[in-house]
Amino acid sequence: MTTERIDWISRPAGPLTGEITVPGDKSISHRAIMLASLADGDSRIDGFLEGEDTRATAAIFAKMGVRIDSPSPSRRIVHGVGLHGLAAPDGVLDCGNAGTGMRLLAGLLAGQAFDTTLTGDASLRKRPMRRVIEPLSAMGARIDAEPGGLPPLHIHGRSNLHGVDYELPVASAQVKSAVLLAGLYADGETVVREPHPTRDYTERMLAAFGWPIGFEPGRARLPGGHRLRATDIVVPADFSSAAFFLVAASIIPGSHLLLRAVGLNPRRTGLLDALRLMGADIREHDTREQGGERVADLEVRHAPLHGIEVPVELVPDMIDEFPILFVAAAAARGTTTVRGAAELRVKESDRIAMMATGLAALGVRIAETPDGAIIEGGRIGGGEVDSATDHRIAMSFVVAAAIADAPVRIHDCANVATSFPGFAELARACGLDVEAAE
Ligand code: S3P
Repeated sequence: MTTERIDWISRPAGPLTGEITVPGDKSISHRAIMLASLADGDSRIDGFLEGEDTRATAAIFAKMGVRIDSPSPSRRIVHGVGLHGLAAPDGVLDCGNAGTGMRLLAGLLAGQAFDTTLTGDASLRKRPMRRVIEPLSAMGARIDAEPGGLPPLHIHGRSNLHGVDYELPVASAQVKSAVLLAGLYADGETVVREPHPTRDYTERMLAAFGWPIGFEPGRARLPGGHRLRATDIVVPADFSSAAFFLVAASIIPGSHLLLRAVGLNPRRTGLLDALRLMGADIREHDTREQGGERVADLEVRHAPLHGIEVPVELVPDMIDEFPILFVAAAAARGTTTVRGAAELRVKESDRIAMMATGLAALGVRIAETPDGAIIEGGRIGGGEVDSATDHRIAMSFVVAAAIADAPVRIHDCANVATSFPGFAELARACGLDVEAAE
């Protein structure tokens, strides 16, 4: 979404100390806006992520006639219009950088009485959408895409949707959610089965909004013909944003950091398991329920890490954390092997290629494989790396630079604001040395 070019310089720094709170969860913030918009009545969202991705989703619903008030930062009052209350928007709907926004909206918009077009930035326009077009078409949706199943997506309204029993070919919460959201408008029952359980926020939130959905890990069953009732949502801090600080404090000698109220949904915390296998010292305190999600304060101290074979079964539970895991591996003693993670090639960038190229430019020995990489831990040097406008690649190299032996210039960091507004300020506040380049 962001078009300006900002490079960052990150310098050797640390230790990391203090107490921080990272911004709200991106996945939950997107879904909260969507379901609150379609509910009967007013919903309040606390802890909403003020990132470009989630604000793009809110702007899309505003364009379809939903009044969304922002009484203070990270708070939204959504005046729901009911399941059939959205109005035809004027012009195309821009999802910015957000794959979650576009894929979930594709399902939801397939059930409307009007046509829509979904587009996004240059990165999003390269991301595969056939994975949602196929199951939605099986439900009766009519969606046109560019050759190769790429955005923009032209979604025809007035389709008679019917329930399906769909087995996902790849573990994807976005595809599962697209099908379930179309299911709100379908006749009959919609069933989704997953090869490996993925984050279940859509299911949990539909239940919180009063839709009688049945779900268990790996399967969801949604009956048609109900309504959503407004409710209040509390969004926990995003584990994927916390991840950069968990790794930074683990690898920078002398660090001792507390991250407050981090969401610990088990389908998100694979990186915690992987880091602990590598020898990290991360403790959970005051574990509690907040808005139906498990949250805890995470205390992390520097610890010498060693390389591991990342268990393949952890991959879906840490799918967004591989860029920063690669940095932990580069800082560890010995070899780390990642397999079964080919999905990384179709995220905001080809994350295997971008991390391999960048780490190699900093002198790390890393070999790409089709579905992962083999990383030899050791010395990290200074230099220049490209983020390919991918927020998580940019933040990962900020952390790598902290233990490098010279500064690192990171190209195209503006998109960090898609998921983690204020990252550089927060990083500086607890001991990193990162700033915009001249
Ligand atoms: C998300 C699901 C994941 C993840 C993305 C957010 C979601 O994508 O990578 O950042 O909110 O459902 P996939 O489900 O496509 O793996």
